[in-house]
Amino acid sequence: MPATLIKNGRIITAVDDYVADILVEDGRIKLIGRNVEVGGGVEVHDASGLLVFPGGIDVHTHLDWEFGVAKTVDTFGTGTMAAAFGGTTTLIDFANQDHGKSPIAGIENWHSRSKSACIDVGAHMIMLDVNDQALADMKILMSREGVTSFKVFTAYPGVLMVDDGAIFKTMRTAGTGGGMVCVHAENGGVIDVLVKEAVASGNIGPKYHAITRPSLMEGEATHRIICIAELAEVPVYFVHLSAKEALSSVSEARDRGIPVHAETCPHYLFLGPEEYDRPNFEGAKYVLTPPLRTHDHHDALWRGLKTSDLQVISTDHCPFCFSDNKGMIYSKQQGRDSFAKIPNGGPGLETRLPVVFDGGVHKQKMTLNRFVEVMSTGPAKLFGLFPKKGTIAVGSDGDIVLFDPNESWTIRAGEHHSRSDYSLFEGRTVKGRVKKVFLRGQCIVDGPKWLGREGMGQYLKRGASGTVF
Ligand code: URP
Ligand code: ZN
Ligand code: ZN
Repeated sequence: MPATLIKNGRIITAVDDYVADILVEDGRIKLIGRNVEVGGGVEVHDASGLLVFPGGIDVHTHLDWEFGVAKTVDTFGTGTMAAAFGGTTTLIDFANQDHGKSPIAGIENWHSRSKSACIDVGAHMIMLDVNDQALADMKILMSREGVTSFKVFTAYPGVLMVDDGAIFKTMRTAGTGGGMVCVHAENGGVIDVLVKEAVASGNIGPKYHAITRPSLMEGEATHRIICIAELAEVPVYFVHLSAKEALSSVSEARDRGIPVHAETCPHYLFLGPEEYDRPNFEGAKYVLTPPLRTHDHHDALWRGLKTSDLQVISTDHCPFCFSDNKGMIYSKQQGRDSFAKIPNGGPGLETRLPVVFDGGVHKQKMTLNRFVEVMSTGPAKLFGLFPKKGTIAVGSDGDIVLFDPNESWTIRAGEHHSRSDYSLFEGRTVKGRVKKVFLRGQCIVDGPKWLGREGMGQYLKRGASGTVF
């Protein structure tokens, strides 16, 4: 592969802001300097007037994933192409153990599905059946496969939820090998009662998804999990944190020096429960879990991003189609007669950087450096990928995004690359656009042109997770 020179861009890392040239050779950054001269055979890209970011890292995706009776619509091929167009060059997806099977079988299944990835990918392991063999297998996953993060659910009873004892055992085992436990924290038992009562009373529309999942129940589960993690002495990471009650438990624990980390997602920062009132069943597009919260929660999350109680913005890309017409096995339409049957989740991989840049950096809610930190550096450090990924430095992978901070454009699902047929941010005009994307020095996105290919992504064996505070 020819070397690549990116000239005259304004390089932004989590701490730096300067204009320079970047030379990438054999996939890695070889040199950063001013007026770098090269001979023939080097591919030169002019980045004058553009921001140069390390490739985005999204640590929360569900590609080609069976979720109860539903299945997400993106393959690793389509999902990672969408990610690349959105400025993301690495993702960590959720593999899962099946009930009655081993987590090792789960990772093997995930490897066979993820072969088509166009960007670099790592895996977390969802634990569903925490027996002695599964706990032993966790150690193999950490040492042999570089899977150093595990996920447990306190929600979705009968599908994904495990009990507190299983969570405690998972945590203690993760702690023996540099692992961190990621948690979907909501009180599944209480929510189940509320859901059944709502449906029995004929309250079946999408808005009851939000009404039956109160923020207090996210707060309760978050507090409970922190107590269990503190006893197990393991780092814990809350996925898709959406509620101010949950955030205040995280802040309190961090203030006490407990290794508690958390992410939020763009939809929890920008969208509220009014979306559920959209006509023609369109509220179903926003049936994702936890549900969209009111604006006081958004304000709390922005404060959490400022104080670093939230360290990451991920997508929770869990794509389904709204309409039935794509031959996908399960769409949002399946819940026409009950919100409880709407598959939970929405797309997000292609819009994460521009939506947060527009609503965060342009609206002066976060600095450019902090933007890079929550989109790339923070996730790399927390999940054992830094400094290979997550920064622009000599020796790091040449994963680079050229970004025009001033271009305004309107988000349209019809122009996206995910197989989902809608966007949570449809019609939103944002300022800031991904122009070019490089994966290990190779230009894979050039404006609207796709230059990557399925299968070019590499599997990432990760180092210890949760070791930074
Ligand atoms: O609604 C969501 N978030 N679906 C994906 C599964 C999960 O809870 O992360
Ligand atoms: Zn979840
Ligand atoms: Zn998720």
